[in-house]
Amino acid sequence: MAILVTGGAGYIGSHVVLALLEQNIDVIVLDNLSHSSRKSINRIEKLIDKKIIFIEGDIRNRKCLRNLFSIHNIFAVIHLAALKSVGESIFNSLEYYNNNISGTILLLEEMRIAKILNFIFSSSATIYGADALSPYTENMTISGTTSPYSTSKLIIELFMQHLSKVEPAFTGIALRYFNPIGAHESSEIGEDSSFTSNLLPCIAQVATGKMDKLIIFGNDYNTPDGTAQRDYIHVVDLAKGHIRILNNLPKIKGYKAYNLGSGKCFSVLEIIKIFEKISGKKIPYEFKLRRVGDLPSFWADISLAKNELNWFPKYNIKDMICDMWNWYLKNPNGFL
Ligand code: NAD
Ligand code: UD1
Repeated sequence: MAILVTGGAGYIGSHVVLALLEQNIDVIVLDNLSHSSRKSINRIEKLIDKKIIFIEGDIRNRKCLRNLFSIHNIFAVIHLAALKSVGESIFNSLEYYNNNISGTILLLEEMRIAKILNFIFSSSATIYGADALSPYTENMTISGTTSPYSTSKLIIELFMQHLSKVEPAFTGIALRYFNPIGAHESSEIGEDSSFTSNLLPCIAQVATGKMDKLIIFGNDYNTPDGTAQRDYIHVVDLAKGHIRILNNLPKIKGYKAYNLGSGKCFSVLEIIKIFEKISGKKIPYEFKLRRVGDLPSFWADISLAKNELNWFPKYNIKDMICDMWNWYLKNPNGFL
């Protein structure tokens, strides 16, 4: 029995695939490589000295899914394939709805036909919306999202809730990721800055001279230094969360959501300061207007994952930034 990882060539997916292989779990990766490189899969194979079944394909391709599910014996799907930029989704909402919602519906339909009952979904802290107060808890009321990206994640969670009611054998687990950063300690896999506009890759681009300065989106937030705060979590800790889910799967019934964050928050200016100390590089920056769709500040209550899954983040913010920086030093052009 294998686990299908959609989006397994991407930043988080590659770390999840490695963590699964480290546990001797068979993995099949489905990825259309729209935002990743095949080389991440090659690097994992080399690291762990195992072959990965990699299928270059789209979750919206019914024929591809039908074929995949008829050939392979799959126990669970870890579904990471999605478009993920909050800002981009505002201007490109239909593309986000098509990829993230229509694609996931098709995947769930084909899973049902193939009688695959376990679905682990990459959700997001952004679903809690503008009115939620931190620390976010899984059972708090969700009042409205601030971007099509977040809406796409929330809608899939609602589908999962409903499916688990009408199909009692279906288990749907939503992992609400906070802000993953860092890289595997080998520096062989990490976040390729050519595919992302996240804070840490942008800081690394400034440090390596690829960008003149960092644009900080907003310094008028109601936070101690005026810049936005996020809960950063090491991508390896996040990947381990998926292993804890699989270990606990027999105990979990129906739909369940877990926050995966560190439970602490740091502002953009604090992150820059820590990065400068670790790298010895100065990061010039300029304040600009807030980015549309961004929230001022949020962090997770992670007691549910701690208590029910026995999942504890191991790495602190310095470890995260250090691993991220080592990855960039070793791979200044990502997977190129
Ligand atoms: P990523 O872009 O590195 O990985 C996503 C992968 O999915 C890429 O390899 C891409 O090629 C693939 N993909 C996209 N659409 C596809 C499709 N239609 N068919 C097949 N493959 C497709 O992003 P990531 O940071 O690794 O994020 C993984 C998941 O985690 C996403 O669902 C994202 O929404 C979610 N998430 C990410 C963050 C974050 O800050 N990185 C936070 C919360 C949630
Ligand atoms: C990220 C993810 C989103 C995920 C969410 C969960 C991306 C693009 N977004 O969003 O998928 O659901 O975490 O928490 O992967 N910033 C700057 N300058 C920059 C870049 C960022 O000031 O050049 C600021 C942003 O305004 C934000 C903070 O840094 O306040 C973090 O931004 P970013 O890394 O893009 O992540 P999120 O927007 O939080």
